[in-house]
Amino acid sequence: MMPQSSSKPARKWPVAVLGATGAVGQTFVRLLQGHPWFEITDVAASERSAGKSYADATRWIEGTMPAEVARLTVVPCDPAQVKAKLVFSALDSNVAGEVELAFATSGALVLSNAKNFRMEADVPLVIPEVNAPHLGVLARQRRERGFAGGIVTNANCAATVATVALAPLHQAFGLEKVFVTTMQAISGAGYPGVPSLDILGNVIPYIGDEEPKIEREMNKMLGRFRGETLESASFAVSAHANRVPTENGHLVCLSIGFEHRVTVDEALAALRAWTGCAEARGLPSAPEHPLVVTDVVDRPQTRRDVGAGRGMTVTVGRVRLDPILDIKLAALGHNTVRGAAGGSILNAELLASQGALGPA
Ligand SMILES: NC(=O)c1ccc[n+]([C@@H]2O[C@H](COP(=O)([O-])OP(=O)(O)OC[C@H]3O[C@@H](n4cnc5c(N)ncnc54)[C@H](OP(=O)(O)O)[C@@H]3O)[C@@H](O)[C@H]2O)c1
Repeated sequence: MMPQSSSKPARKWPVAVLGATGAVGQTFVRLLQGHPWFEITDVAASERSAGKSYADATRWIEGTMPAEVARLTVVPCDPAQVKAKLVFSALDSNVAGEVELAFATSGALVLSNAKNFRMEADVPLVIPEVNAPHLGVLARQRRERGFAGGIVTNANCAATVATVALAPLHQAFGLEKVFVTTMQAISGAGYPGVPSLDILGNVIPYIGDEEPKIEREMNKMLGRFRGETLESASFAVSAHANRVPTENGHLVCLSIGFEHRVTVDEALAALRAWTGCAEARGLPSAPEHPLVVTDVVDRPQTRRDVGAGRGMTVTVGRVRLDPILDIKLAALGHNTVRGAAGGSILNAELLASQGALGPA
């Protein structure tokens, strides 16, 4: 029986957070506090942290560390030392590949934030409101790789914000080309991240490996799942990624060319009408509105709009004519919430609602 947000399962699914001490790992810990379906039983990180209490191993960034997690002992990222079979991974990509594979092989279902498996043909790259049906490829992944568990990924944080803004337009009109310039917050670089003397009063027009990730991941997410195959969309993307001195929230400016001419009014109507895949509606972490359009001339703004929908809503504004392509707009989303931990938790809720986690 699929649980609904209104009807709690009798027991909660135990979950682990790998990379629990980092920026995204801490966001998982924060967002999972009091979650109706999931309960953190294991926190894991590097050998530097293993053996310490979570409170001692972690330099906590935001608000107050939940007491029940503060007491847990950090374990190494070894499947033999982690009890939970539902595993959120906030691991550095240097180690995520090997570790996530070991967990999936050992029977855990891994919800990964790292880049390592995102573009594999049998690995779903999911934003529930955009492409919930892509989870269907998990059955093939399990069969072909012999996984007792599996790997489900969410996208690069800037690609996520851009994809939510583009989904209504692609679904209504078909994208042909997209030019995207990002202004990405410091928390996107993890903790401790970018040295303060590099970023205070500064903009850095380079984020290692970010532009290729944005360019390829949007097409995968906006593609289709047919039979047992994920078919990518095929619009051209050019990305410029910039690090700016904001704390949280990635602002992306998009210029968009369609297969056929689209007016500003048509684009606005499609954006306003979009509610996303029905499968995501009503899940505990789903915002009431995955996308909100603002008419305020100078919004979205990072500080003012990053918290929309508890960090799960993407705010779109400045929808206007583009003199080179067709339409241009600005979109803002929270990088560690919608673009990482919150998105991953929503993916797990979607799997739970489809009966893919088994009994709690
Ligand atoms: N920040 C964002 O906005 C964002 C958004 C989307 C996706 N992501 C992705 O999410 C992942 C985590 O990013 P982050 O920003 O949270 O990075 P971070 O703050 O640097 O945290 C990295 C985590 O990985 C752990 N780790 C590092 N080396 C390890 C090893 N050899 N073995 C086991 N654990 C190890 C660290 O543990 P210790 O504390 O013990 O070193 C820490 O918990 C990355 O793959 C990143 O690309 C980040």
